[in-house]
Amino acid sequence: MPGKQGAEWWREAVVYQVYPRSFADSDGDGEGDLRGVVAHLDHLVSLGVDALWLNPFYPSPGVDGGYDIADHCDVDPRYGTLADFDTLVTAAHARGLRVIVDVVPNHVSDAHPWFRAVLASGPGSPERARFHVRPGRGPDGAEPPSTWTSVFGGPSWTRITEPDGTPGEWYYHLFAPEQPDLNWKNPEVLAEFARVLRFWLDRGVDGFRVDAADALIKDTTWPDTPGGWPVIPKDASSPVHEVYRALRRVLDSYPGDRMAVVETGAPDDVVALFLRPDEMHLAFNLRFAKAAWDAGELQAAITESLAANAAMGAPVTWVLDNHDNPRSVTRFAAGIRLEGDYAPTSTGGDGVADLARGLRRARAAALLMLALPGAAYLYQGQELGLPNVDDLPDEALQDPVFRRSGGTERGRDGCRVPLPWRGEVPPFGFSPDGVATWLPQPPAWRDLTVATQEADPSSTLWLFRRALALRRAEPSLRRGTVAWLEPSSPGEDALRLRRKAGGGRALVVVVNFGVEPVPLPAGEVLLASAPVAVGGGLPGEATAVVVPAGG
Ligand code: NOJ
Repeated sequence: MPGKQGAEWWREAVVYQVYPRSFADSDGDGEGDLRGVVAHLDHLVSLGVDALWLNPFYPSPGVDGGYDIADHCDVDPRYGTLADFDTLVTAAHARGLRVIVDVVPNHVSDAHPWFRAVLASGPGSPERARFHVRPGRGPDGAEPPSTWTSVFGGPSWTRITEPDGTPGEWYYHLFAPEQPDLNWKNPEVLAEFARVLRFWLDRGVDGFRVDAADALIKDTTWPDTPGGWPVIPKDASSPVHEVYRALRRVLDSYPGDRMAVVETGAPDDVVALFLRPDEMHLAFNLRFAKAAWDAGELQAAITESLAANAAMGAPVTWVLDNHDNPRSVTRFAAGIRLEGDYAPTSTGGDGVADLARGLRRARAAALLMLALPGAAYLYQGQELGLPNVDDLPDEALQDPVFRRSGGTERGRDGCRVPLPWRGEVPPFGFSPDGVATWLPQPPAWRDLTVATQEADPSSTLWLFRRALALRRAEPSLRRGTVAWLEPSSPGEDALRLRRKAGGGRALVVVVNFGVEPVPLPAGEVLLASAPVAVGGGLPGEATAVVVPAGG
């Protein structure tokens, strides 16, 4: 069991998100797998992260990238076996890396035995009471129970064909029709998830990432709402918090600082409710992840989330990239911000998608993120500065968002393209030579492979390695206070943060949002996201960490 950071390791941990289908393919079928992860764990060690989070690898029809789970306590054959999972945990722990797995409590796959039992049983059955199954409206029940729409487009109710072949009741799905929502007011559901957590805790996992954590309790008066959006109560007294208190008790019954990080796109004050001391440990700061390349937006996201979480005694969990959003290089290239959850739309931007500019900004934002107090989550490929792949052919797209939006939204496949490890041509060491990967890799990724960047000290890979090493060496980067300093001149487009933690020396972080250089404080530059000439100031679209002269 790793113990590098001692108690409450999760408070300051840097966690690397592994999307197993796209990380590394050990068996040559064009899709990543758990053995591929084991084979590349040393990449994570040399990067300097504390843990890895694995997106779902459970048996699944794969309608929503594995977030449609048919069996919560096994490994899908496409990813390997439970023995491979055990090997992964052992190999990770031997390297001092902790392991976090996904838990998806809001819904299951329509191939899950519980939902198959819904279809086989009739109205009013105990099997149906595990889900939200309702009669329809109108004389023959042909209208859905409410106007609510699904996150992935279209209605959020689908009609069941009863065992005798007649059109029957309707079931509710926040996401795709293949993802029926569980009824968390039914105690059987909590008991089942407590069992699922114990199954993985017994196998040695260090924690969980909780999918769609705020969505478990619906307003079961099923009101019609303007815009058709569901009502999901999240106030302090919502029963959703009882669920997390119960799951926390399961985690606390195990030794070794097991933890959970929740995914919720709610406002800061609502996110913080999930972080009360008897609930969950961490919650992603998705506001930070969706902000534009804009000093005011990022400063507000930092200040307000720090304040909201401090009220609960909880750290903030910083994230810029994940498997649901366009990669930061591409977002920042176009200057856009994201709005909405899961399949966000974008606003803002100046219409110029300049990837060199996006990379400069993404490197600067990453160094800022890694200099903020709390936990930080990196998404595979972020350490390579990969752009989103926005020109995948339509026939390659697999995200349900594409199909269910009628092709108006391209969906999330562009951030899920398999990693380039080495070599001159696809599959770039992801799969054995000559194998077609499940999503095609751009030939231009030849310049972005791990092997290419390893050999280039100015690469993004080396920037991340240095930033993580610095964060490990300097307590003031990973915990402590954030104080905003005055601009060096009235109109400068920059953020200046003084960072200080007990036991660490004071540091100043400068982020230049403009294109003209800004002055750096006198002192030693420990790390910068772009070359800094002696006495030359900080170039545009760059971040520097400075030890100020005189403290
Ligand atoms: C959030 C996950 O991150 C996303 O990939 C998934 O589609 C939805 N939840 C539904 O599980």
